[in-house]
Amino acid sequence: MQEALYTFTNGLYVIGVFDKKYYAGALVDSITQISATPFLVMLSMMNSSYTKSCIDKEKEFSLSVLPEDVDPFVVANFGFQSSSNVKKWEQIDYEKHDSLPFIKEALAQIKLKVIDKIIYPHNTIFISEAIACYQIRNGRPLTYKYYRENLKPLCQKALGMKANCSLKTNPKEKSEKIANHSKKWVCSICQYVYDDKIPFEDLDASWRCPFCGVSKEMFELI
Ligand SMILES: Cc1cc2nc3c(=O)[nH]c(=O)nc-3n(C[C@H](O)[C@H](O)[C@H](O)COP(=O)(O)O)c2cc1C
Repeated sequence: MQEALYTFTNGLYVIGVFDKKYYAGALVDSITQISATPFLVMLSMMNSSYTKSCIDKEKEFSLSVLPEDVDPFVVANFGFQSSSNVKKWEQIDYEKHDSLPFIKEALAQIKLKVIDKIIYPHNTIFISEAIACYQIRNGRPLTYKYYRENLKPLCQKALGMKANCSLKTNPKEKSEKIANHSKKWVCSICQYVYDDKIPFEDLDASWRCPFCGVSKEMFELI
């Protein structure tokens, strides 16, 4: 089933949002245009995301469309760690427009205002209207497919992480591994490997990946 998702033509984008004195931000692929006039987009954020909590408060955010030749560190910085631990925008070259941060090398820089939202148990969908565009450049947009096939190991390296193993464990293998007391779980977002004394299954449901902040459901047994 998961394989079907890899055939979707999603792009990769960086979201930026004001957070008290600083800015928060996240890498996203669940974003799509839903209307041209008015220019409306739909963004799906995991409820565990710190950036999501800031969008809830601020009701506006920046969207930077990443180019295919993006610096892998930018992808890792925004996608593999949480703004609750790291000031992500301080680590890269960015520019401000109308009090929001944008990636300098972006193909497009768009400011969006939230006009509606739908809350699901794990995700929140923000329907937003584009209210300004500060940059449009020629170039190939970065797709999720290109990221998976070419960029992912470079991104892991950029943050000094270990490249990892297949995440496609089928349910039968999974239960056999649990039965064999295998204890290693890997985060399907940032590839952080959980290998602590407390069995992963016993961790509280509110436990989060210490690297990227996603919830337990995003982990796979290896
Ligand atoms: C390729 C890729 C695509 C992602 N797409 C989304 C997405 O569409 N929505 C989302 O909420 N998180 C997505 N994430 C996960 C967030 O970028 C990640 O959890 C990030 O650490 C959240 O940071 P925050 O806690 O500062 O918001 C994606 C991560 C990767 C690596």
